[in-house]
Amino acid sequence: MPVIAVIGAQWGDEGKGKVVDMLAESADLVIRFSGGDNAGHTVINPFGKFALHLVPSGIFSARATCILGNGMVINPAVLISEIDQLQERGIDTSRLVISDRANLIMPYHILLDGLEEEARGGKAIGTTQKGIGPAYSDKVARLGIRAGDLLDSEGFRERLSHILEHKNVILTRVYGAEPLSLEQVYKEYCRYGERLAPYIRETMTLLEEAFSRDDLVLLEGAQGTLLDPDFGTYPYGTSSPPTAAGAVLGSGISPVRLNRVLGVYKAYCSRVGSGPFPTELQDETGDLIRERAHEYGTTTGRPRRCGWFDAVAARFSHQVNGFTGMAVTRLDILDTLPRLKVCVGYRLEGKEIDYFPANVSLLEKCQPVYEELPGWEKSISDIRKYQQLPPQARQYLERLEQLVSCPVSVISVGASREQTIIHRDIL
Ligand code: IMP
Repeated sequence: MPVIAVIGAQWGDEGKGKVVDMLAESADLVIRFSGGDNAGHTVINPFGKFALHLVPSGIFSARATCILGNGMVINPAVLISEIDQLQERGIDTSRLVISDRANLIMPYHILLDGLEEEARGGKAIGTTQKGIGPAYSDKVARLGIRAGDLLDSEGFRERLSHILEHKNVILTRVYGAEPLSLEQVYKEYCRYGERLAPYIRETMTLLEEAFSRDDLVLLEGAQGTLLDPDFGTYPYGTSSPPTAAGAVLGSGISPVRLNRVLGVYKAYCSRVGSGPFPTELQDETGDLIRERAHEYGTTTGRPRRCGWFDAVAARFSHQVNGFTGMAVTRLDILDTLPRLKVCVGYRLEGKEIDYFPANVSLLEKCQPVYEELPGWEKSISDIRKYQQLPPQARQYLERLEQLVSCPVSVISVGASREQTIIHRDIL
């Protein structure tokens, strides 16, 4: 049985939650491998509508074990409230597991996220203010606190006391903010530890068992490749790798075991937060897409910037991840548009280029070169077979396949699980 990674191929919010929810029906293990509650995965299935931030979207499967992987940063208060809400709605959370290696978001991370953003002024990244950047910074600076630390209250106190001393110096002397109380933070996190202890465990043995049974393993991405700290629009991105490489790193699975990488692309583009976005539409068409698709952040409620499909960025994302197939989501959003545009190249300082520049100041200057395609101007939400799609919709998808050089496997034509066309096998 394969290991499949589901990867955001643009700037996040591509509809990965829906794709994972659908695939998780046949999965045995679902592992969320990066990010934290900066993510918001909307899932609409027979149990209702859910906005998940930390719990893997595979939680609705009748048999899958769902792991919050070592690559994540977890705000325990948010996780507990998410577990409570799922339980209240009758969802079984007994197969939820938290990797003891996952780092925790601490109160100073959230404070520092806000203070650092404020200090950036006009250069603010537009973070979700959930403490993600500061938590990952601490992880690599070896100042992190991990989920497993909560299981040893004495060791945890000692580590927290040492780290908090350092954080309080930054809070008070750099930002003139109030210091945090060791007692308060310690007690609060001990309470979280008691509540979460049944879920926290070593996960490598679970993986070994899954491989020995030949289980189907799904690696659930958060955010998108263009927000990656190495390959995204740095520094306007997030702090953990949303890529296929990040999937193996953040779950503890050997790269040689990964045999499918599904790239999730929206049929257009959106971005939330600051940073370059060559195909952004600051006009009526952009507003129309935003309103039709209700493009407002699941986590922050911020309006998302919307624009045409960018095939230069899409191909770059494919190069980074080596997708074995594309899932094209929200195709139905384009239903009403008479003409569609796809960006097939950039014009930079008078020259046409076909690569995605690393430097954001260059990317800001890139003018999209568009190709126009006819729209289909009818509703496709009830279509379940590829051949029944209007010819213009097939033409659009086939052009995306050509431009990205990757076959389309799945097409989503609506928010619910069944509004999906399986064009080619994923497994
Ligand atoms: P952070 O991850 O909160 O530090 O935010 C850094 C950048 O990534 C900001 O532009 C956010 O808007 C963006 N971002 C983070 N998570 C998501 C997501 O799940 N979807 C879309 N954008 C995101």
